[in-house]
Amino acid sequence: MRHISRTQMTELLSHPIFRQIGQVADGMGMECYVVGGFVRDLFLERPSKDIDCVVVGSGIAVAQTLGKTLGRGAHVSVFRNFGTAQVKWRNIEVEFVGARRESYQRDSRKPIVEDGTLEDDLDRRDFTINALAVCLNEQRFGELVDRFQGLLDMEDRIIATPLDPDITFSDDPLRMMRCVRFATQLRFQIEEETAEALERNADRIKIISQERIIDELNKIIASPQPSIGFVELSRCGLLPLIFPELSKLEGVETRNGRAHKDNFFHTLEVLDNVARKTDNLWLRWAALLHDIGKPRSKRWEPVAGWTFHNHNYIGSRMTPDIFRRMKLPLDERMKYVQKLVDLHMRPIAIADAEVTDSAVRRLLFEAGEDIDDLMTLCEADITSKNQQKKQHFLDNFRLVREKLADLQARDNYRTWQNPITGEEIMQTFHLQPCKEIGILKQLVKDAIWESQIPNTYEAARDYMMEKAKEMGLTTENK
Ligand code: CTP
Repeated sequence: MRHISRTQMTELLSHPIFRQIGQVADGMGMECYVVGGFVRDLFLERPSKDIDCVVVGSGIAVAQTLGKTLGRGAHVSVFRNFGTAQVKWRNIEVEFVGARRESYQRDSRKPIVEDGTLEDDLDRRDFTINALAVCLNEQRFGELVDRFQGLLDMEDRIIATPLDPDITFSDDPLRMMRCVRFATQLRFQIEEETAEALERNADRIKIISQERIIDELNKIIASPQPSIGFVELSRCGLLPLIFPELSKLEGVETRNGRAHKDNFFHTLEVLDNVARKTDNLWLRWAALLHDIGKPRSKRWEPVAGWTFHNHNYIGSRMTPDIFRRMKLPLDERMKYVQKLVDLHMRPIAIADAEVTDSAVRRLLFEAGEDIDDLMTLCEADITSKNQQKKQHFLDNFRLVREKLADLQARDNYRTWQNPITGEEIMQTFHLQPCKEIGILKQLVKDAIWESQIPNTYEAARDYMMEKAKEMGLTTENK
């Protein structure tokens, strides 16, 4: 965190809009402050998109007068229901709201709102680091208001609520998710009483809409080290409420002295490994879900010990339900995650055995253009603490990658198309749509992929004729 004197603050607020706002507010006899995330991010030197202003009086009136003063090129939108207004000018957007007091009812997020002072407004905010305000009025331009020692908390890297955390969280339970999210994004510690209140109020998350919850969860996942957030969600009891499938990965069972690994911590390690390599949110989701099928597939077998057969398949089958419930997109992004979950064991199976052309080709075909992402996931999945074992797999993965590059250069399997189409099979054998068409196509594909026949139309056609004959199909028109 950096220290900012009032003079420096004045320089940071050098955009002409801030002086304009101050003058307009002065002209109307109202105090006006820039508040919240924008001020916090000035100190933390983070980029900030939204500028929020609080007016002690009518935010809408200040916004409208500002719009007139700025003239053409300024655009004002008023949201009377919310008592807010937005001014867009050049490349900047400023939200205006009147200072408010709020009180909440137990079963709703919707507060009863009344006009209030700046202090009332700051008191009702979520965290001390978000309860900072900087005055924009001419006389006090650049003056910081820090009622709850937010600067100290920023210096100590602490997330704490301004008021009793039970009240802050109970008033608006989404703040519990925000608390964990800020701790993860900023790598701040959650202050002790605040952390205890998270536990006590976790259950209240039930009144929050899934859309808001997933927004925060995605911000946690998009952080540099997402595991911080998931460990905290687990600790305070939010995890089983918002993501029961992930919560079920927690724990270790031992039988006859044989224990399996804790799949929750393993998953978090994989997620952090992936996060070090890419910002792709959906690849991070694939990491989070790659072992999600393990609890359902877990068996104890007397010789083998703990097994998780088909957990990749089970996990990929669970993915649409999880996406639906979580209000994540059900389009190609879901399919991408599903595919990576399904295929995540394949490269390791190949790397573990002999890395043959046909195995790699098959993988390349199934993964298609997502092959590089799949390899990133699989490399991240090697979390063995045995350095020798780890090296062995990484070396073999390098082999797989080399072979992939080699095959891609040779026959471009990413865009491979079967030389034999269903249409051709139907015409040749005078068939209506039926399962034999699929079987024949598959046989041709397998033969090419196993390098039994060359990847040419002629070879494929001959092979199709041969196999069709064996299947009892005829070219005669009956
Ligand atoms: N706020 C709050 N309780 C919430 C949401 C927001 O008290 N549930 C307050 C905080 O003071 C916050 C400000 O409203 O700083 C603006 O909220 P928002 O724009 O959602 O978040 P930021 O803090 O700006 O952070 P980010 O942009 O990273 O979400």
